[in-house]
Amino acid sequence: MYHKSYFLIIILSMQLMVANLYAQFSPGKIPVIPIPKKVNVQSGFFTLNSSSTISCNNPETLSDIEVFNAYIDKLYGFRFKIEKYTGVKKNQVVILSDVNMPSDNYSLSVDSEGVRIAGGNGAGVFYALQTLTLLLPAGKVNNLQIPFVEIEDNPRFSYRGMHLDVARHFFSVAEVKRYIDYLALYKFNAFHWHLTDDQGWRIEIKKYPKLHQIGGWRKGTLIGHKFDEPEQYDTIRYGGFYSQEEIKDVIQYASKRHIEVIPEIEMPGHALAALAAYPEFSCTGGPFETGKTWGVFQDVFCPKEETFQFIENILDEVCSLFPGKYIHIGGDECPKERWKECPQCQELIRKENLIDENGLQRFFTNRISDYLKKKNRIAIGWDEILDEKLSSEAVIMSWRGYKGGIEGASRGHDVIMTPYSHCYFDYYQSRFTDGKLAIGGYLPIDMIYRYEPVPDALNAQQSKHILGAQGNVWTEYISNEEYLQEMIFPRICALAEVLWSPLDRRDYNSFTSRLQSHFKFLKFNKINYSSAIYDISSRIHKGVEKNIEIELFTKFPRGQIHYTIDGTDPKLSSPVSSGNIVSDQSLSIRAALYEGVQQLGGIFIRNFSVSISTAKEITLANPPHEEYNKGGAFSLIDGSTSSLPWLPEEWLGFAGNDLDATINLGELLRISKVTVDVLKENAGKIYLPKEVVVLISDNGKDFIKVASLNQAEIEKMKRALRLQFPSVQTKWVKVIAKNSNGKDWLFVDEIKVE
Ligand code: ACM
Ligand code: ZN
Repeated sequence: MYHKSYFLIIILSMQLMVANLYAQFSPGKIPVIPIPKKVNVQSGFFTLNSSSTISCNNPETLSDIEVFNAYIDKLYGFRFKIEKYTGVKKNQVVILSDVNMPSDNYSLSVDSEGVRIAGGNGAGVFYALQTLTLLLPAGKVNNLQIPFVEIEDNPRFSYRGMHLDVARHFFSVAEVKRYIDYLALYKFNAFHWHLTDDQGWRIEIKKYPKLHQIGGWRKGTLIGHKFDEPEQYDTIRYGGFYSQEEIKDVIQYASKRHIEVIPEIEMPGHALAALAAYPEFSCTGGPFETGKTWGVFQDVFCPKEETFQFIENILDEVCSLFPGKYIHIGGDECPKERWKECPQCQELIRKENLIDENGLQRFFTNRISDYLKKKNRIAIGWDEILDEKLSSEAVIMSWRGYKGGIEGASRGHDVIMTPYSHCYFDYYQSRFTDGKLAIGGYLPIDMIYRYEPVPDALNAQQSKHILGAQGNVWTEYISNEEYLQEMIFPRICALAEVLWSPLDRRDYNSFTSRLQSHFKFLKFNKINYSSAIYDISSRIHKGVEKNIEIELFTKFPRGQIHYTIDGTDPKLSSPVSSGNIVSDQSLSIRAALYEGVQQLGGIFIRNFSVSISTAKEITLANPPHEEYNKGGAFSLIDGSTSSLPWLPEEWLGFAGNDLDATINLGELLRISKVTVDVLKENAGKIYLPKEVVVLISDNGKDFIKVASLNQAEIEKMKRALRLQFPSVQTKWVKVIAKNSNGKDWLFVDEIKVE
């Protein structure tokens, strides 16, 4: 009896070990991203090593094999020999082009006989090899064990794009190629190369060498964030450009990876670097300097005939370099101030009966779009180009939400969705920023994962115009490759799955599980990635007896949160957060997520400050704007002040009106200090209040003023506005913060009475 059960224990634990080994490759865990349409994992492995061979029945496949072999060589230090195909042989990687298979489709089968791939066209085979790459061991070994698997796969969307802004910060050819590698790995097929902007012109144009000689360089760059005051600049000459030979090299590199490179030449706005080189194509004649800060500049191309000649000459060179069907012509954020003042612009509006400057932008877009059409190319533009008289071939990139996409598709334009709410990889992905900057906003990976590119508002016919979606990587705050990687990994994985995998295969649980395995691959490939997927967040509730209840949660579907409130770092032995943490005292919470004994991600640290006003009854005389009222009046007295990245639910935003809040302390209490936490972000038209007043009352009706701050005092204090006064007894406290100008934003986060 004793012996039998002892034996049983050994057998059980052996089974567990085997199960663990295979667990990495169970159907939910096969570390392939994006998840294929059909996956069937069986137990067992086939081994490839330096004596293995690859054969194919189509000479075009040799280029795909070369990409694969170069990868194998780099990571494992050998290459597979290529054999002439003479029928399916055992112990080989056999790659067959299958004319009966639709394009971009592939199948991959691994069993004891070997690896067999069939692809519908070159891209199909390439995608199969990417899947195979993701199945390889994440460590340098001689024997590459690949799990037995049957896969059938094809993409959901025809356009699967990633964008890179090389104007704000320049990335070398080698860095761009690595970026293309990332796209290839996850089966993207479009690289949108943002080559020109106010801060740099990055493509050599032979006819206009000053574009890269002058426009390719700036005399300094903004230090810190655009929102910081005062603005500061370094004086380091910054820039770079790609020669036409380098451009061709990148295009060829991408083409071998079945990726179309779409160049973007911005017009008529975001053109300051071009105008620094050729000021004659502006309205005023300049002079100009290549931009040193971020944002939108007033000086744009003047749509006179000489400018069109200039741009068309540029596009001639661009079209002869880039063989793809799409050319992106920008079109976003074009201020009309200069056009309003320019006699030539006004004359053109009259002559062409364009009504106003918006008509002039449409004229501009149509002229260029028609020019490209004659060259057999299709213009893509940001959604500002939408207009009922826009040339019907033009493709819309919907970035200001879904509206442009819906309108564009309803009018018969093809559409690529890049709404900033779900596709802007320059937004923060974590609330733990380590002091690193991002443009603003908050786009955690789960939001991308849940993104649906086809807007609900479209019917089946209109939906066909949604070609796909794209992640945009603007680089104002991304100045090096290491941070670029962190900003795109692993968010790119989520977008890849949105774009490639069937909707019914989307499952965040499975995705995060595969991603955890995939992190080993990223480490092995020395790719820097964010651990934000494990982030812990907090939500504050009004308590029943005590003042506040703090809920800790994570969107990661597994693991337990352990926390402390004594200032020490949480450990596995720290209490598990199961219900809310209830407190009537200020407290600092530290928390960490554990899966088993392993800590995932970083440590959550947050201070909650409880005062006599915390979680008391509060009423507002004026409503906040509905977009910035997510937490309601309670968020003003929830004991928590917000930190970057700002979350909408943590702020109340008043559009043109004043904060007028009355807090009922519930009993007569002594008070001598009120702190009002506000936000200043001039770029977003969020201004400090012009006056803050504190009033008290015994009956909630008749108030007397006890303290105030004027504009100068407020400007000095900036965020936490403190009003101190001789101690008084009161039951009600009223706080009024006057909107700066009666039309722009006032943002308030917290009111604290002491
Ligand atoms: C854009 O983000 N301005 C297209
Ligand atoms: Zn003009």
